[in-house]
Amino acid sequence: MSIPEAFIKAIQSTSVPQFKYFSSIDSTNLIALEWLENGAPDGAIVFADHQRSGRGRFERKWVTQSGSAIAVSILVRTDAREQKYLPLFSPLAGIALSDVLKHRLQIDAEIKWPNDVLINRMKTAGILTETVWNGEELLGLVVGIGVNVLPQSIPPKESLQYPATCIQDHCSFPIDRFEVLAALMNAFSYWRSQIHLPEFMNQWQKTLAFRGEKVYIKQKDGSVQLSGILSGLTSNGELEILSENKQKQTITVGDVHLRPAEPEN
Ligand code: ATP
Ligand code: BTN
Repeated sequence: MSIPEAFIKAIQSTSVPQFKYFSSIDSTNLIALEWLENGAPDGAIVFADHQRSGRGRFERKWVTQSGSAIAVSILVRTDAREQKYLPLFSPLAGIALSDVLKHRLQIDAEIKWPNDVLINRMKTAGILTETVWNGEELLGLVVGIGVNVLPQSIPPKESLQYPATCIQDHCSFPIDRFEVLAALMNAFSYWRSQIHLPEFMNQWQKTLAFRGEKVYIKQKDGSVQLSGILSGLTSNGELEILSENKQKQTITVGDVHLRPAEPEN
């Protein structure tokens, strides 16, 4: 298997200590989970050009088409302080990506709580964080990020639950996905160092999609659990919804889905 020169060059401009590159693999998260158990260093990454069965939340599928996307899993060996912030690692990846999109490509992106990155209300990236335990001891986390970069990365409309887009469709100059990858690794590392600070939560609040708008929280079976105005995040990163009778409700990450406006969206 040959590794593209541009990939190697991009990774050399980051602090990523080791990587595994695959032209095609089932799921980068699966490889990363195994590698974490087998002693991979903190910050190592697994990248794939194509995934045969990329994983989303709740056994859903994430599509990664060849030559057009980023599918990367970052291995994180949490230190004692970081262990208090485990639920913030998915938003960390979303914050890092939206930062890169804004500051390098002048694209305004938003984070659809808890784990999607949207451009113009369409999904351009998904994040799946998985943990590895040895009994009661946390060995670490795998933060898997899938980003649609070029138009070929967008799956057929009929296979999607939510409208999708890619970064290139919002940028007037050609995008090099390995440059975006390198910038993303650097931004991840920066925002990881801020995870315990108010700046982190402020940044998340600033990029939160649908703030001040009417949203629905749906359960897995599609039924509406509650609706109201999305007012923001609590200090723990739960979602705050102001229901129609003006009561504040907080939603924790679980088997629920956030949708804007009409329940059929
Ligand atoms: P929810 O908001 O309901 O939790 P979600 O959009 O976050 O939903 P996930 O399970 O997090 O859903 O993501 C997997 C979903 O993403 C799949 O069910 C599919 O509809 C969609 N999907 C798969 N591949 C892509 C892709 N490359 N680009 C955009 N969307 C995709
Ligand atoms: C989601 O939207 O539910 C999350 C999708 C996460 C996809 C990424 S692609 C890299 C990593 N490997 C996987 O199998 N999944 C994640």
